[in-house]
Amino acid sequence: MKKLTPVVIEAGKLFEEGFHAAKEVRHKGVVDLVTQYDVAVEELLKKHLAEVMPEFTLIGEESGDEQMRAGKAIYIDPIDGTTNFIHKIPVCAISVGVWVDGVPAAGIVYNPILNELFAAEAGVGAFHNGCPIRVSETVELQQSLLSTGFPYTKVEMGRDFRWVIETMKSLLPFTQDIRRLGAASVDLCYVANGIFDGFYECNLKPWDVAAGILLVTEAGGRISNHRGEPYRLGDPIIVATNGKNHDALLEKIADYERIEHETSS
Ligand code: IPD
Ligand code: CA
Ligand code: CA
Repeated sequence: MKKLTPVVIEAGKLFEEGFHAAKEVRHKGVVDLVTQYDVAVEELLKKHLAEVMPEFTLIGEESGDEQMRAGKAIYIDPIDGTTNFIHKIPVCAISVGVWVDGVPAAGIVYNPILNELFAAEAGVGAFHNGCPIRVSETVELQQSLLSTGFPYTKVEMGRDFRWVIETMKSLLPFTQDIRRLGAASVDLCYVANGIFDGFYECNLKPWDVAAGILLVTEAGGRISNHRGEPYRLGDPIIVATNGKNHDALLEKIADYERIEHETSS
């Protein structure tokens, strides 16, 4: 953590400069955008991480790196919430997650615009700007404020889109409400510090969740896939809660495999 934090804070300066600057926006997909700052922040992080943690394989969203790695890996999302970043909505962050042999070891989610630095270390705890954080105490799903996100694949109106709509239909009436902030790493941190009582999303990539997962578990929460099994990087659905409302939330999450089967047949 001592090596990681200064590198992320340094990259945050470029992130912040880019947030306020005019940007060149390119399309990676129909609505999946990238700016010169996504690329530059990732390059800067990789350069400095390679210097201070040379034994780790660096896997960045914008470099086309292989998504999953055993051994020592650092997953980097230089700007999580790029659509917010482009629209000047200050919910976006650098997310850096350190994993060893398929288990999270350390994670940082840093939003330099709101000056929020979330950090977690396995067995040590989860922190917001240096102060320990805990998940909420809410037990009832009906009193739970949840957060979610919508995958870029929605434009295809296939499996993922149907899963989002079916889940929303069965879940929304039984919650306090559902928010869509636009940055999965921040959603996870807001579960960790008790702002949200839970979060779920489909089709997230390892760099979106590699840091946030540890924030949630170190803050006393629970992470699983839609079947309630321990979440593994690459699983199609992530469910993160304070633990107390987890099973109730799982009950309302649509069956991804059934939808997959129906959409492909
Ligand atoms: C996206 C954000 C968003 C989530 C998308 C992600 P990006 O990451 O985390 O909240 O709903 O699924 O891909 O593209 O802004 O790094
Ligand atoms: Ca992301
Ligand atoms: Ca990104």
